[in-house]
Amino acid sequence: MNIQDQLQATIELLVQKGKGILAADESSPTIAKRFDAIGVESTEEQRRRYRSLILETANLGDYISGIILFEETLEQRADDGTLLPELATRQGVVPGIKVDKGKGPLANAPGDEITQGLDGLGQRLEGYKAQGARFAKWRNVYHISDSTPSRLAIEANAEMLARYAAICQAQGIVPIVEPEVLMDGDHGIARCAEVSEAVLHALFHALHRHHVVLEHALLKPSMITPGKNHARQAKPDEVARQTVRILRRTVPAALPSINFLSGGQTPEEATANLNAMNCLTPQPWELSFSYGRALQQPALQAWKGDPGNVAAAQDALYRRAALNGAARRGEYQ
Ligand code: 13P
Repeated sequence: MNIQDQLQATIELLVQKGKGILAADESSPTIAKRFDAIGVESTEEQRRRYRSLILETANLGDYISGIILFEETLEQRADDGTLLPELATRQGVVPGIKVDKGKGPLANAPGDEITQGLDGLGQRLEGYKAQGARFAKWRNVYHISDSTPSRLAIEANAEMLARYAAICQAQGIVPIVEPEVLMDGDHGIARCAEVSEAVLHALFHALHRHHVVLEHALLKPSMITPGKNHARQAKPDEVARQTVRILRRTVPAALPSINFLSGGQTPEEATANLNAMNCLTPQPWELSFSYGRALQQPALQAWKGDPGNVAAAQDALYRRAALNGAARRGEYQ
């Protein structure tokens, strides 16, 4: 298959009615935080057990079309010796890989950050592809304050995401482009909308400049919400209207699907907000999910590192996936 056909085939597998993507690509420090909250030490063996549990969940593919994995997981095996990416494929779930190397300060832009990892990316992607990965994810973050994100941060981060996406497509890997406007702060929803509009506008301009084929890429944005310390939190219909309004202004219709991150929303909030968006008039793109915490939190709580809790944890994960599958269709109660 030529590169364009490979990309198109992966898009068709990832973008299916009633399904979304599971982000299980927490880096080592992040998974240690999640495990810490349930009293589990983050060893390689515990991570292997936990991620096997996820991938062995019966019928995971009913509502999950793709799973984003961390580098370490690509080489890990379930108890029966099956490589974890192979287990995903058997479930009808496309394996993907987080390829950025995390964030750090952006020079000359106090309070802003930039994501690392472009050096050698093409070569790394060849390796990941050989290990079964068919799509990738790269996350950039934007902090909202009175002085951030600066124009410099908005432009530099857009350039980074576009370069990553172009390198992925050249290798036949579908890029998920993730510009996360963080929920931290006490700003109102209007400020989040203003920042998100500027971020997305610059991003799609950069994608165009780098000749990224929008039909073969996915966007993973944050929703438009008030800051988490704002006095008045928004109801799902307000989040939905504001989010769709900004996306319609900035995201070309050629892009097949928008898969939101959950960003610290509770599982219930993330599902209700997605559902509200899918209750509006039809949009040019699919509106779906690529949740990490909002899909995994109940499963982690049920598991607590105890092999006796594996079935309960899998039930919790399947249930959350099913509820988000319903939200994809605007049928969540
Ligand atoms: P959350 O849904 O927990 O925000 O994670 C999504 C993700 O992949 C962040 O990069």
